[in-house]
Amino acid sequence: MKTIIGTTIQEAIHLLKSGELVAIPTETVYGLAANGCNTAAVKKIYEAKNRPNSNPLILHFASIEKINPYVLDFPQELLNLANKFWPGPLTILLKKSELVPNEITANQELVAVRVPNHPMLNAILRELDFPLAAPSANLYGMVSPTKAEHVMQDLNGKIPYILDGGACENGLESTIIGLHEKKVVVYRLGSISLEDLTAELSYTPELKNTSEKQVITSGMVEHHYAPKTPFFFFNETSIDYSEKNNGFIFFKDKHPSIDDSNMIILSKSGDLKEAAANLYDAVIEMDKLEFTALFIERLPDFGLGKTMNDRLNRSTLKFRT
Ligand code: TXA
Ligand code: MG
Repeated sequence: MKTIIGTTIQEAIHLLKSGELVAIPTETVYGLAANGCNTAAVKKIYEAKNRPNSNPLILHFASIEKINPYVLDFPQELLNLANKFWPGPLTILLKKSELVPNEITANQELVAVRVPNHPMLNAILRELDFPLAAPSANLYGMVSPTKAEHVMQDLNGKIPYILDGGACENGLESTIIGLHEKKVVVYRLGSISLEDLTAELSYTPELKNTSEKQVITSGMVEHHYAPKTPFFFFNETSIDYSEKNNGFIFFKDKHPSIDDSNMIILSKSGDLKEAAANLYDAVIEMDKLEFTALFIERLPDFGLGKTMNDRLNRSTLKFRT
C-alpha cells in the first residue's frame, strides 16, 4: 500500500467512512484513527501497530453531547474536569454503553473517551456520525510521533493516508483519569499535570500508573516509549565525553565538553511546555543518527517535567540492567 502525506480533510473523511486507517494530528501526538464502531476497521489499527489486542483504545469525539450515548453515566466530578479541560488533552475512563464494541475496550467495562483540540481533527469529528478510535500512530512500544514525518517513518506502506497538521502543540500524550472509590485517580501522566488537576479538585489525585497489579494503560507498562539506540539518563551512568559517537539531550543548558552537533537542547529558556513539545522529536531525531548511545538529562520533577521523567524512566528501562 502506498502511504501519502497530505492536508486534505475531505480525503481523510472519505477514507475513515470507508473503514480505512488515517493518521491524524492532535494537540498531543499523532493518532492512528479508524471508525470506532466498525470492528473490522478497529482490527486494522492493531495490525498496523503490532499492538496486542489486550491494550484498549481511546475514542475521540467532537463534543460531550456526542459522548453521552456511548457511556452509561458521567459522574459529576469527572464531568467538571471534562468541562474545564475539553477540548484538550484529558482522557476519561467511563462505563461503556452497548454502542462501544468490545474490541475497543479489550472486553473491559470502562471506555476511554476524549474531546481533542486540533482544528483539522475537530473538523473531521464534526462531520462523522461515529467516534474515532485512535492510539498514538507509532509501532507498539516505540516513541509517539509528533510530526507527520515521524508517522511515515513507522507506518509507511501500512496505511493509505497521513493528514499533516504540523507539529503537535503539546508533544506529550493525554492524561488519563478515572474514578476509584469516589476519588479522581490518574492512570497515565500526560499533557495535563497533577498540579493542573489538583487546582480543580480539593485534593491531589492519586497516581496509579505503576503495574503492581493489572496493567490498565500504556502509562503503566514499564518498557515503553523506547528508541532503538541504547538510552540512558545523563549523570546516572558513567560517560566518556570524548566518545564522538554519543548523543545528548539536555533540558536548557549546553554541556561545555560536548560538541554542538552531538547535542539537542529542549528549551533554551528552561520552559517545561516548550521542552515537552520538543522531547519526542529530539529522541526520534537522535535515534536516526546512529549514535552508540543516547543520554538525556532528567527534567525538574514537577508539572510537565514529572510527565517527561515518567516517560523517560520507561524508555530507558530496557537498557538498564
Ligand atoms: O494523547 C493521546 O491520548 C493520544 C492521542 C492520539 O489521542 N492517544 C494515545 O493512545 O496515546 P494510546 O493508545 O497510545 O494510549 C492510550 C492508553 C493505552 O495505554 C490504553 O491502555 C489506555 O489508554 N486505555 C484505553 N482504553 C482504556 C480502557 N478502557 N481502560 C483502561 N485504559 C485504557
Ligand atoms: Mg501509545
